[in-house]
Amino acid sequence: MKKIPWWQPQFGKKEVTLLKSVLQSAFPNEGKLTTEFENNIGEHLGVKHVLAVTSATAAMFLSLKSAGIGYGDEVIVPDITFIATANAVEMTGAKAILVDVDPLTLTIDINCFERAITDKTKAVIPVHISGRAADMHEVSKIAKRKKLLVVEDAAEAFMSKYKGKYLGTFGDMGCFSLSPAKTISTGQGGLIVTNDDNLYLKLKMLKDQGRPVRGTGGNDIHPALGFNFKFTDLQAAVGLGQLVYLEKRIQRMRKNHRIYKKLLSQLKEVSVLPFKVDAGELPQWTDVLTERRDDLVAFLKKKNIGSRNFWYPIHSQAYYKLSDEHFPISSALSPKALWLPSAFTLSDNDIVNVCKLIKTFFSDETS
Ligand SMILES: Cc1ncc(COP(=O)(O)O)c(C=O)c1O
Repeated sequence: MKKIPWWQPQFGKKEVTLLKSVLQSAFPNEGKLTTEFENNIGEHLGVKHVLAVTSATAAMFLSLKSAGIGYGDEVIVPDITFIATANAVEMTGAKAILVDVDPLTLTIDINCFERAITDKTKAVIPVHISGRAADMHEVSKIAKRKKLLVVEDAAEAFMSKYKGKYLGTFGDMGCFSLSPAKTISTGQGGLIVTNDDNLYLKLKMLKDQGRPVRGTGGNDIHPALGFNFKFTDLQAAVGLGQLVYLEKRIQRMRKNHRIYKKLLSQLKEVSVLPFKVDAGELPQWTDVLTERRDDLVAFLKKKNIGSRNFWYPIHSQAYYKLSDEHFPISSALSPKALWLPSAFTLSDNDIVNVCKLIKTFFSDETS
């Protein structure tokens, strides 16, 4: 049977042409092409400022740091997300406070978020799992009332909309990932978006050794503390090339999800987690819940079909260890959750075949 990956990055001629020009220019550092890439992203998302950085993890660290968050502070993070979200908090010296998730969306549970707020809470990081929006209306309302910073983890939600606006543009800052399993990839890389001029300037200095303007390195003025989280024009060349295929990829990812929804909706053993596709939500990956997840994954693997298990809840990882009893939803759902093949390189037929196999698995008493 043809191999069907759960995800597959793809690079084309445009990236090669642009990369060649960067190499020939002998200026591989962050330069004009990075600015062009940032401007292009800003136009796509309708946001004032974009900063390209080394990863989404770095993007979240810098976002929290730009607001002065550090030792003694608490930042609320949902228990189901890639561990990077919590790690970015810990990197600032602040403490990541984990809260349970909503059973229908797997995004931050609003009541748990509100209950976790203390005098030390300075920020919240809602995470848009698989491109599915956290309840930004409620998150923003509570954050405003409690004077909390909102940093959106939109690592998986590039070009996904909520109430007519792109995810990542609701909070004070939004962070995106350009790692390989994303809609556009530069190998590694991340983006911070913000409409706040003051935060933008702070972020700019933080990512580049405290310099608002880069000179020779020898005679530069550093008015603030900063680090090195710069992008490179090599990555920007790849990113600009990737944007050429963006619309096609978006259409394909929507279609992948529609076919899954249609073909699996009658199957009682599998529930396809919902997306508001007509309202602009973009399913980056199709996620499903099933009691027999591990058996299904093993069966698909034998048939050459890739899939990916959901992360273990963060509270179950050594550094963050807490009792399951505080996280009934994430503890119950994480072992049932997986991502089905969702690559933009797949065809209708590939998805139909995956669904057929899933149905075979559940109809076969002996499987
Ligand atoms: C929800 C979420 N947050 C954060 C990250 C971290 O992104 P990066 O690998 O670019 O640091 C990822 C990466 O896949 C992610 O899925």
